[in-house]
Amino acid sequence: MKAQKKTHTCGELTKKDVGAVVTLMGWVHTRRDHGGLIFADLRDRGGITQVVFNPETASEAHASAHDLRSEFVIAVTGSVSPRPGNTVNAKLPTGEIEVLVNGLTILNTSKTPPFMIEDETDVAEMVRLKYRYLDLRRPSLQKVLITRHLITQTVRRFLDKNGFIDIETPFLTKSTPEGARDYLVPSRVNPGMFFALPQSPQLFKQILMVAGFERYYQIVKCFRDEDLRADRQPEFTQIDLELSFIDEDDVIALMEELLAEVLKAVKGITIPTPFPRLPYHEAMERYGSDKPDTRFGLELKDISDIAKASNFKVFLQAVELGGKVKGFAAPGLAGLSRKEVDDLTNEAKVFGAKGLAWIKVTEGGFESPIAKFFKDGQVKAVAERLEAKPGDLMMFIADSPRIVAETLGYLRLLMAKRLDLIDENKLNFLWVTDFPLVEWNADEKRYDAMHHPFTAPKDEDLEFMKTDPLKVRARAYDIVLNGSEIGGGSIRIHRSAVQSQMFGLLNIAEEDARKKFGFLLEALEFGAPPHGGLAFGLDRLTAILTNATSIRDVIAFPKTQKAVCVMTEAPSRVSPAQLRELSIKLDVVE
Ligand code: AMO
Ligand code: AMP
Repeated sequence: MKAQKKTHTCGELTKKDVGAVVTLMGWVHTRRDHGGLIFADLRDRGGITQVVFNPETASEAHASAHDLRSEFVIAVTGSVSPRPGNTVNAKLPTGEIEVLVNGLTILNTSKTPPFMIEDETDVAEMVRLKYRYLDLRRPSLQKVLITRHLITQTVRRFLDKNGFIDIETPFLTKSTPEGARDYLVPSRVNPGMFFALPQSPQLFKQILMVAGFERYYQIVKCFRDEDLRADRQPEFTQIDLELSFIDEDDVIALMEELLAEVLKAVKGITIPTPFPRLPYHEAMERYGSDKPDTRFGLELKDISDIAKASNFKVFLQAVELGGKVKGFAAPGLAGLSRKEVDDLTNEAKVFGAKGLAWIKVTEGGFESPIAKFFKDGQVKAVAERLEAKPGDLMMFIADSPRIVAETLGYLRLLMAKRLDLIDENKLNFLWVTDFPLVEWNADEKRYDAMHHPFTAPKDEDLEFMKTDPLKVRARAYDIVLNGSEIGGGSIRIHRSAVQSQMFGLLNIAEEDARKKFGFLLEALEFGAPPHGGLAFGLDRLTAILTNATSIRDVIAFPKTQKAVCVMTEAPSRVSPAQLRELSIKLDVVE
C-alpha cells in the first residue's frame, strides 16, 4: 500500500477548497464528543483545522476517534466542507471550513501532557523547559523560532549580496578577552591543558582579514561564563562580521542597510536611516546609560551649580568631592506617599546611592524635607532646569558621576514603565559612539579596555595615550535598540606598534601579551590591512523584534539563570574513569 502523504498543512484550507479530498497530519489539539459527532482540532506547524467524525458516513473512523486523546499524532483523509453558518470560527484562518473524515490512522499515542499546548500559559518556566518539546509545540514559540530563521536567512542573503564569506572558526581554542569568564574544556591528549570556548571569534576574524578575505561573516555560538540575566545566556549567538579597507562610517552605513532589510522582512516596515548617533559622554549625561532607551524623555539634568550654592550638606559635599548632583522630574508623581518614596530610595541604594532627595512641585510651591536648605529662588531655578510642572516629583542623586548615572539611569527607566511612557510600537535604533578607549579599574588599580584591547584609538587622541589615557576615545560603536545593546564593534588596531602601546597602557606585560595573543601580534606584523567589524547579539535582536520578555523565549533550548539545561540536566557529574582519563582530580565540597 502506498504510504499516505500530507496534502495540506492544518493552516491553509479555506472556503475555496470546499469539495477537495485532503489528507492532514498533526497533533490532536482538542477532542469534543457531541453525542453522535466527534470533533477534533488538528494542529500542526501551519495552524489548526477542525475535523469531524460522523458515525453515519464513516463508522470505522468514528469508532477509532473515541480513542483519541490530546497530543495523539494522527492522519486523516476526508473532504473539505463549509461549516454551518453559526459554527464559523472567525478567529481561525481555517474557521470557515471543516474536514469530514472518512479515514483515520493513529500514527502515535501520547501520554497526557503536563500542560496544555496553548499560547496563553501560566505554567512555571521550569516545567516548560523540562518538557521543552511540548513547550515548543505552542504556536507562539514556533512563530518566534520561525521569525529567528527569517532573520538569519535575510542576514545571510544580504551579506552574500555584499561580498561576505561565511567562514567557521574553532570552538576549541584559546581565551578571547571579551570581559567574561571562559568555559574551559580539558584536553585528554595534553594532560593538564585546557581549551577555552570562544567568547567571540574576535581574534580569528581579525586573522582572516590578515589572510586577505576582506569580508567575513559567521552566525556563531559564543560562550561566556557570566552572571545571567534576562538578556544574557551562557551560550548565545552572534551575527559576527569583519571587513578590510573600511572606516567606521562604512561599517555603520552597511549595518543600517542590513537592519533595514531585516525589519522589512520580519515586520514589513521601512525604518528610517541613517540612525541617530550619540557620543558616549552625551548618552551618560542625558540618560545615565550607554544604551539609552530614547522612546521617552525624562532626561537627566545637572544641577551641581545650584546645589553648590545651597546649604544642603549632602549636595555640597558630593560636589566638593568631585561628584555631581543630577535629577529629573517624574510627571504627575507628586502624589506619591511617604512609603512609596522610601521604596524608591531603597531601590536607589542598590546602585550605591546614599539616598534619594526629592521635591514635590505643587500649585502653591514646593514640598520637600530639603527645601529649607535652599535660598530664595534656588528651588525655582532647579524646577525650571528640570522643566517640572505642578504635580511633578523631582528626584535627585548626589554622588560620583558613575553612581549618579547608574542610579538615575535606572530610576528613569523605572518611572517610564510606571508612568506608561514607553510606546511599545516604536523601534528606536541608536548608535553610541566615541567610547573612551579605557576605563579606570579602581579595585585592580589599572586601566581596562572598555571594548576589547584590539580596538583602535582615534588618531587625533593618540597624543593622550601617555599623558591622559582616560581622554582617549576609541573607534568603537555600539548599536542600541529600545534601550538594549544589540551589537557592538570597532575599527581595530592593525599596526603591531600601536597594539604594543595599547598593551602597555593596559599594563599587560609584553611577555604576557605574547603568551595570550602572540599569534595575533605576529600576524599583525605580516601586512595586516586596516580592518574593523561588528557583532550583533542575534538573541537580543530577535527578542525585541518578537516582543519576547526574555531571550530564553527566542532560543530553542535555553539555560536557566543558574546556567542549567533543565531538559538534559546538563551540566552533570562525570564518571571517575572519565576524570582519570583527563588527569583531573576534583576538589568539590559536597
Ligand atoms: P560584544 O561583547 O559587545 O562584542 O558582543 C556583541 C553582542 O553580543 C550580545 N551579547 C550577548 N547576548 C546574549 N547573552 C550574552 N551573554 C551576551 N553577551 C553579548 C550583545 C552584544 O552587543 N567581538 C566583539 C564584537 C566586535 O568588536 O566585532 C564582541 O563580542 O548584543
Ligand atoms: P539626610 O540629611 O541624610 O537625612 O538626608 C536627607 C534627604 O536626602 C533624604 O531624603 C535622603 O534620602 C537624601 N539623601 C541622602 N544622601 C543623598 C545623596 N547622596 N543623594 C541624594 N539624596 C540623598
